[in-house]
Amino acid sequence: MAREPKNFDHLLGGNAKGLSDTQLKAHFTLYQGYVKKLNEIREKLGKTDKSAPNYSFNEYSELRRREPVAFNGTVLHEMYFEALGNGGASPDDHAKKLINASFGSMDEWLADAKACLMSAHGWLLVCFDYTEGKLINNLIRTEHDVGLFANVHVMMAIDVWEHAYFFDYQTKKADYVANVLSGLNWDVINGRLKMVGGSPAA
Ligand SMILES: [Fe+2]
Repeated sequence: MAREPKNFDHLLGGNAKGLSDTQLKAHFTLYQGYVKKLNEIREKLGKTDKSAPNYSFNEYSELRRREPVAFNGTVLHEMYFEALGNGGASPDDHAKKLINASFGSMDEWLADAKACLMSAHGWLLVCFDYTEGKLINNLIRTEHDVGLFANVHVMMAIDVWEHAYFFDYQTKKADYVANVLSGLNWDVINGRLKMVGGSPAA
């Protein structure tokens, strides 16, 4: 069954800190394009001949190679839009404990998150690492699937492709980063963090 794009119109009208309706609507359209491509790839995968897969070129092989871009382009945008806000919520006790145990303090996490975002042309993912039992920052370079760590669970996704901010900020990327981080909807992130990290490693 085809996947339907989620609606994030509740963010319009100033409900995502520092992001105009024009900026957000353009981004929603781009996200909807990833959902459409994910559906198209899945539909074609269901019909395409699998008898001669090939590393150099084959239709089935190429569909499988492009699938992670459309899949992550869909899911990461949904995680990003879901957690945008106006700074009205705060990390709860569980989130604070996990962040402190993982990064030292909230300020240390924020400093590293900003450094990752300013380094990236892609995404910052904050992930729970099941191997070490703590949160880690993961910089995703280019497309949506290059650099993702293994054995992690994505808790937060922050888009720092130019299309996420250029209409509102042009080259003032640092201002976008500051606004998006201070506007995060922690009610959403607190809920995600409850899925993991019952006893974070020190
Ligand atoms: Fe984006």
